Amino acid sequence: MASTKVTVNNNGPIRIEGDFTIHDAEGREFGLAGRTVISLCRCGLSQNKPFCDGNHKANGFESLCPARELPAPKPVVTAS
Ligand code: FES
Repeated sequence: MASTKVTVNNNGPIRIEGDFTIHDAEGREFGLAGRTVISLCRCGLSQNKPFCDGNHKANGFESLCPARELPAPKPVVTAS
């Protein structure tokens, strides 16, 4: 079974490795030219969004996101 690993890098991008596709808001798929590893911008400064272009380094982006447990999701309420 294929798997995907997502890593939130300290002071940098979100790295995605494995079997994945990336789509825009209209559902169109980005052509990744066979890449199995890609980094998505987390700092908002990339000139090639949604992909990281390294601008986080030049601009001193700082963000540490250590792994933690999230609370259970709220139950979905449906209208009856
Ligand atoms: S995280 Fe690298 S340019 Fe934004």
